[in-house]
Amino acid sequence: MTLLEIFPSLRDGGMVPRLDPTIWPRDTHYDGEGRITVGNVALADIADQYGTPTYVLDEGEVRGRCQDYRKRFPDAEIIYAGKALLTRAVAEWVTEEGLSLDVCSAGELAVALSSWADPARIMLHGNGKPFGELETAINCGVGRIVVDSLTEITLLSALASRPQRVLLRVTPDIDVHGHPAVRTGVTDQKFGFPIGGDAVREAADRILRQPNLQLVGLHCHIGSQIGETFPYGEAVRRMIGEMSRLRDELGVELTELDLGGGHAVAYRSGDPAMDLAELSDIVGDSLDAACIRYGFPQPKIALEPGRAIVARAGVTLYRVLSIKHVEGGHTYVTVDGGMSDNPRVALYGARYDAVVANRHPTGEHMTVTIAGRHCEAGDILAHDVRLPVDLRPGEVLAMPCTGAYHHSLASSYNGIGRPPIVAVRDGRSRELVRRETIDDLLCRDIGH
Ligand SMILES: Cc1ncc(COP(=O)(O)O)c(C=O)c1O
Repeated sequence: MTLLEIFPSLRDGGMVPRLDPTIWPRDTHYDGEGRITVGNVALADIADQYGTPTYVLDEGEVRGRCQDYRKRFPDAEIIYAGKALLTRAVAEWVTEEGLSLDVCSAGELAVALSSWADPARIMLHGNGKPFGELETAINCGVGRIVVDSLTEITLLSALASRPQRVLLRVTPDIDVHGHPAVRTGVTDQKFGFPIGGDAVREAADRILRQPNLQLVGLHCHIGSQIGETFPYGEAVRRMIGEMSRLRDELGVELTELDLGGGHAVAYRSGDPAMDLAELSDIVGDSLDAACIRYGFPQPKIALEPGRAIVARAGVTLYRVLSIKHVEGGHTYVTVDGGMSDNPRVALYGARYDAVVANRHPTGEHMTVTIAGRHCEAGDILAHDVRLPVDLRPGEVLAMPCTGAYHHSLASSYNGIGRPPIVAVRDGRSRELVRRETIDDLLCRDIGH
């Protein structure tokens, strides 16, 4: 008997979900057997070979997104924000595509350097950089450090034995009204120095008085998942205004303006996504206008996309463990992963879609909630997802747009090891990061 025969109320009609190209990697298709393929590899085969849950990463999609940025911003420096997803292979791909790297800890720096990235093209971020990490960064010859506090200036000047290039992080007081956890452009928060006030001038002045520190520019990051372009135009205007003020008050003409990242991607069909062509136009136009207005020479622009480079390249595979219909309530499809591999739903209320990957279901569909296996009622991976009514335990679900802030935010909560990352390209798959095993969990636990 099918679920539909047992619960006729599930019959809510609707369309069979299609593979929307705005949320799947560009190279996603159905094969002759009706299975979903990415990079010419059947996702069901990956689930069989590497187990589940597994993060699949399409190399061609990551490289393609890097190329899109290079094409749209030919004169800008594109600095990949490694916090979105950093493995040695990813660092290699983005540097081969001509991007620089942004890291925010000694751990990320180590991954970047072990992929043979040029230290001069690495930028170090963070509102709290421990002394040891600053020391490591300086010793490695990191190209630029983004200064976020007065204490850091003291530490850097004590550490640097040759001129160290730095930028100053400024909050431009632009509220993009996103989730509170990612509103980084407003004034009263932990990052940066508020624009237009004494704090920016004092920090810049202190840096300028250190013979071994070279202040090259200003930095801002106005938030994340920003789908509109006008906040970036506003950021350019305000930041050029600030650079001009520093020139007037301190006599320094800064040559770099880093506008951070935050460009939105669509997680579900119909979500807004950043239009790079429009962004390029508004940044260029605002820069021209602001530089004319302030009589300021055009600085070199840098952008720091993270999510927009890797999110759509990632697809997470789960196996269905059970299907439960709560009478008068929801239908719960429980899978073998959850908030340990994707904490974004619990953290930000993020919304995802999912489809069956091992066959192309054409019959009746039902609306379900996809639940994780963790011991938390809030461990839900997706709401209002359309799945076939004849879905069975053991089938493979694929959740698109899961390449950014999934592996990097993952935990081993409930003693469930983190999933592997499996790269696909030209019909072949290979493991970039292996699955975290029970031995891995035990080996950090020293006992008594
Ligand atoms: C300083 C900085 N740059 C870039 C990024 C990347 O943001 P996104 O992945 O939204 O592009 C972040 C994200 O937190 C950030 O803090």
